[in-house]
Amino acid sequence: MQCRIAAIAVFAACGVVSAEVSFEREVKPVLQKHCAGCHQPGSKASGLDLTTYDGFRAGGKRGTAFNVNAPAESIVIKYMTGELKPSMPLGGTLLPTADVDRIRLWIQEGAKNDSRPEEVSTGPIAYKQPPVITALKFSPDGKTLAVSGNREVLLHNADGSGVTKRLQGKAERILSIAYSPDGSLLLAGGGTPARFGELQFWDPRSGKLLRTAEATNDTVFGASLSPDGKKAAAGAADNSVYVFDTSTAKQLYKVTSHENWVLATVFGVNSKRFVSVGRDRAAKLVDAEAGQFLENVNQMRGELAAVARHPNKDVIVVGGEDRIPYVYMMDRPRNLKVGEELTLIRKLDAQNGPIFALEWSPDGSRIAVAGAASAVNIYDAESGSKVAACSGHTAGIYALSFSPDGQRLATGGFDGKVRFYRTSDCSLEKAMVPVPIEGGAPAGGMR
Ligand code: HEC
Repeated sequence: MQCRIAAIAVFAACGVVSAEVSFEREVKPVLQKHCAGCHQPGSKASGLDLTTYDGFRAGGKRGTAFNVNAPAESIVIKYMTGELKPSMPLGGTLLPTADVDRIRLWIQEGAKNDSRPEEVSTGPIAYKQPPVITALKFSPDGKTLAVSGNREVLLHNADGSGVTKRLQGKAERILSIAYSPDGSLLLAGGGTPARFGELQFWDPRSGKLLRTAEATNDTVFGASLSPDGKKAAAGAADNSVYVFDTSTAKQLYKVTSHENWVLATVFGVNSKRFVSVGRDRAAKLVDAEAGQFLENVNQMRGELAAVARHPNKDVIVVGGEDRIPYVYMMDRPRNLKVGEELTLIRKLDAQNGPIFALEWSPDGSRIAVAGAASAVNIYDAESGSKVAACSGHTAGIYALSFSPDGQRLATGGFDGKVRFYRTSDCSLEKAMVPVPIEGGAPAGGMR
């Protein structure tokens, strides 16, 4: 028999050699996905941090979580099998037996720590050069501009005069920032590439991390909050949209109707529906209560990367690869057949490059469009005519936000500078690097 050949490769191929269970490759990802939302440094449920080997070994209020000398007595297993109540993950379904068995076996084999040293340090964040800006947002009271950094969100005075708080979390990248309408909650979505996707729920006033939720083993995109502040949605590279309860960070459901990466989401005015867009070129309308796909909003053209909604009407603008912003009614009137394109209200001008970001002004009168081209174009939302073009960026623009009074527009992108424009004529008020550069000018200082 071939398997008798005494070569390691063949043994392995024949399944004779079974390697020990790896903490890094097998145990940690399970804990990361199902448990870290509640058991992490920012919110250690029952005193237990399951994001690192050390935290796991240290255990929680009830002492050590696993016991190498008496594996059967390990409370982590007892909670995961439901032998100890409440079963873990709390409020969720028990993990597949295979996952629990691997963790049990890992304990039996001596619970060895083969974890890589954390690629992301947990010390103070230092910058040698300005990071690419992937998200920014004015707070609803207009006093603060939240800007993405590496592994943090920086809260700036809205006039760019300085940093007031630094919200430092676990995710290496923050790709979206949203505020609840009353300003009491800040959602930051992102993750660490090829490791985990994360939604962070912050109290922006105290700077406290309230909760986090994890989804998939890659970053999440286009996170948004429902206007009633109750739900958060985010797209992912596994073609799904994940929806969470903001008060518990519990995943409510995921929607799998897309056929490619989902890059942006937006809720309807009454929070009962949302639209997600992505690389499959579709803008999909979903019943946000039931988590049910309803219908495609658009005729599919190019890959979509951005969506924004009118402040008080269920009208959206979508854009992406084919450079044209399309304004659609979110709902198809009952008497309209699929395929008819009467829900398309208007198209705006083709841009000079693919679209990455869209924003509707708070009074509904303007739409700002940005992307690979270095200018942001502002349009009259009713007539579709161009009002102004804001130039100055030297490369792609990934993020836009109107101030609540609609007078100013903040932008950010590849060149690492936040720019503040007057929306009336696109005059540049200020340009600044939003992070402190080691040995450089303080944040908020330079022009
Ligand atoms: C939704 C939040 C949540 C999730 C998700 C969750 N836990 Fe917990 N966990 C808790 C809370 C709350 C307690 C305290 C329960 C109690 O004492 O009544 C707890 C307690 C525990 C304890 C006991 C710690 C001690 O020493 O007191 C263990 C072990 C544990 N969880 C393991 C897990 C594991 C493993 C997972 C993932 C499979 C998980 N938990 C997922 C919230 C959560």
